[in-house]
Amino acid sequence: MADIPKTRIAVSEHEQERLRKFVRQAGWMNGRIAGARVARVEDAEALAGLLAHESIGPRIYTMPNPINAETMTTFIADHLAQRERGEGILFVSFNATGEATAYFDVELWPQWSMAKFGGAVKAERQGRGFGGACGLAAVEWCFDQLGVARICETTARDNDRSIRLLSRLGFRQMGEVISQRPDGSTRPSVYWEMERQDRYAARSAKHAGAAGPDPDSPSFA
Ligand SMILES: CC(C)(COP(=O)(O)OP(=O)(O)OC[C@H]1O[C@@H](n2cnc3c(N)ncnc32)[C@H](O)[C@@H]1OP(=O)(O)O)[C@@H](O)C(=O)NCCC(=O)NCCS
Repeated sequence: MADIPKTRIAVSEHEQERLRKFVRQAGWMNGRIAGARVARVEDAEALAGLLAHESIGPRIYTMPNPINAETMTTFIADHLAQRERGEGILFVSFNATGEATAYFDVELWPQWSMAKFGGAVKAERQGRGFGGACGLAAVEWCFDQLGVARICETTARDNDRSIRLLSRLGFRQMGEVISQRPDGSTRPSVYWEMERQDRYAARSAKHAGAAGPDPDSPSFA
C-alpha cells in the first residue's frame, strides 16, 4: 500500500471509537443512494458480474485478479471483517433483476478521522451521470453520516472520468503516490484529499448564491 493518507491529524480515542461504532452498525447507505446495502457473501457472483468488465476491474488497483465469484467471496469476506473492526465497509446496489449496478467501499483510518472510498458503476451506465451521483452520495456518506474530517482518494493518471468527477466534487490534487495491487505490482496514482470544512464552506457559498461550479449537481444525461 502506498504511504497514504498524506494528512495525518490525530483525533481523540473517543472520536475513533465513535467512527468504528458507526461503521460496525451501518447496514444501508441511506442518503442519496438509498438502495445500497452492505455486501453479503452470497452477493459474490453479482459483484463479479459488475466488476469483471474490462472498463472496471483493471482500473481499480484494490481489486483481485482475476475477478470471479471465488475471488469476490474473499473480497466480500475481507470487507465484512473490516466492518467488524470498524475500519472498512462495502456497499452494493442492485437493479430489479438482481444485477449489481454499483459498488462503493470505504477504508477508514479512525486515528486520523480519514476515509478513502472506491467505487464503480455498471459498464452500460457509465458516462451518463450515474457515477457523479454515486460519488456525491459517497462524499455525503463519509462527511454527513460517518462524520470523518477528511477523505482521500487515488486515481490512475489516465482515468479521465474519475479525475473530472473528483475535481467537480471538490477534491484537491496533492501530488502522486505509488499504489500497490493485491498481487504486489504497482501503479502510479494521482492522490487527492478533501476536508469536511471545505465541503461545508462550498455548500454555504452555494446557498448564498456564489458563482462557480456546483458540487451538488452531477450531470444526468
Ligand atoms: C469513474 C466512474 C465511477 C464515473 O462514473 P460515470 O457514470 O461513468 O461518470 P459520469 O457520467 O458521472 O461523469 C463523470 C465526469 O466524467 C466526464 N466524462 C464522462 N465521460 C467521459 C469521457 N469519455 N471522457 C472524459 N470525461 C468523461 C463527465 O462529463 C463528468 O464530468 P463533469 O462532472 O465535469 O461533467 C465510472 O466511469 C466507473 O465506474 N469507471 C470504472 C471504475 C473506476 O474507474 N472507478 C474509479 C476508480 S478511482
